[in-house]
Amino acid sequence: MKKALITGVTGQDGSYLAELLVEKGYEVHGLIRRSSSFITGRIDHLYRDPHEPDVRFFLHYSDLTDSSSLITWLNRIKPDEVYNLGAQSHVAVSFEMPEFTADTVAMGTLRLLEAIRHADWPVRFYQAGSSEMFGKVAESPQRESTPFHPRSPYAVAKVFAHQMTREYRDAYGLFAANGILFNHESPRRGATFVTRKVTRGVAAILGGKQDKLYLGNLAAMRDWGYAPEYVEAMWRILQHDRPEDYVVATGEMHSVEELVAMAFGLVGRDWHDHVEVDSRYLRPTEVDELCGDSSKIRRELGWRPSTTFEDLIRIMLAADLEDAGLSPADHFVDLHGPR
Ligand code: NAP
Ligand code: GDD
Repeated sequence: MKKALITGVTGQDGSYLAELLVEKGYEVHGLIRRSSSFITGRIDHLYRDPHEPDVRFFLHYSDLTDSSSLITWLNRIKPDEVYNLGAQSHVAVSFEMPEFTADTVAMGTLRLLEAIRHADWPVRFYQAGSSEMFGKVAESPQRESTPFHPRSPYAVAKVFAHQMTREYRDAYGLFAANGILFNHESPRRGATFVTRKVTRGVAAILGGKQDKLYLGNLAAMRDWGYAPEYVEAMWRILQHDRPEDYVVATGEMHSVEELVAMAFGLVGRDWHDHVEVDSRYLRPTEVDELCGDSSKIRRELGWRPSTTFEDLIRIMLAADLEDAGLSPADHFVDLHGPR
């Protein structure tokens, strides 16, 4: 039985990755932070499922800012694979908390790499890199060789983590690989990222809980994929016979305005009646557009996305409507008309 250690297991990706690895028969260990409230909502079904007594899923307290606990758990668990997904992952928040963001994202990665460097068994390391590293893009679509031009403290910290992962691979021969993942979403997406903010907002408006949705830059363009498919890419990257870096993306780009029009359109509403721009959600520096060329991972590892932009919004909106006590079947309209 292979063992995996996941940082950021309570997050969107950590929860889907833990599910995937448990399904594949791994013994899965997740590191969680101490909090005064429950933070395990996305993974409780794995931890507590009484119908799956064979599920080997364990949680331990740690923090990417705390070397000693990282070293302790690494050496106690002796994982075959380490997935470093933990991060202060909100770009806008990183402008308000640059030091904590750098400590978690940049230094946290270095702390883990150092711990792994001293391990006396083979460990495969996955670093959760981001398309934000391309920032003010030098070419489009972006691929593994596109130069980085980060535009936020978060992105600068991710560039450090990416380069440090490459450095430890080259200098010490570690099996250390970077995924460069473009935006990926799901019903488990944090509520303050734009896709989820929109789908939750539409559900709240239909439920009569609010009338307006306040957003920032509607012109920004992103390459949005479906998170469960992206964690499969992470796993494949670590199963390859050599450590490499891969762009993971759909190759399709949409604006925030298109996202909003799609979400309101799916329930027969005109977004102009509900959306207002609030300058508080604008960022000091913005990434105007991101679109990924994932031909390397498609060619070498056989990974490809299958959920379309419309299906992604449909899946998220249906989940948020249900959460709001509304039936998706009663509210969805057929965008395409009779076929
Ligand atoms: P997320 O939902 O925000 O989850 C972040 C996770 O990191 C949470 O489990 C969080 O724990 C944990 N964390 C935060 N600070 C920490 C610290 N100091 N020590 C240890 N853990 C800490 O993010 P996600 O969307 O799943 O993304 C996973 C990773 O992929 C992140 O590194 C993100 O930067 C990167 N990424 C994401 C995307 C995307 O579109 N989703 C794209 C590219 C790269 P709490 O629950 O305690 O807060
Ligand atoms: N969050 C948010 N809230 N974003 C808004 C809003 C709003 O009200 N209005 C417009 N936007 C715009 C942002 O300015 C940005 O251009 C775009 O919507 C996407 O914002 P987010 O959903 O917050 O994601 P992100 O692209 O900044 O970062 C996410 O993707 C990265 C990969 O490219 C995060 O998951 C990062 O951790 C990840 O690395």
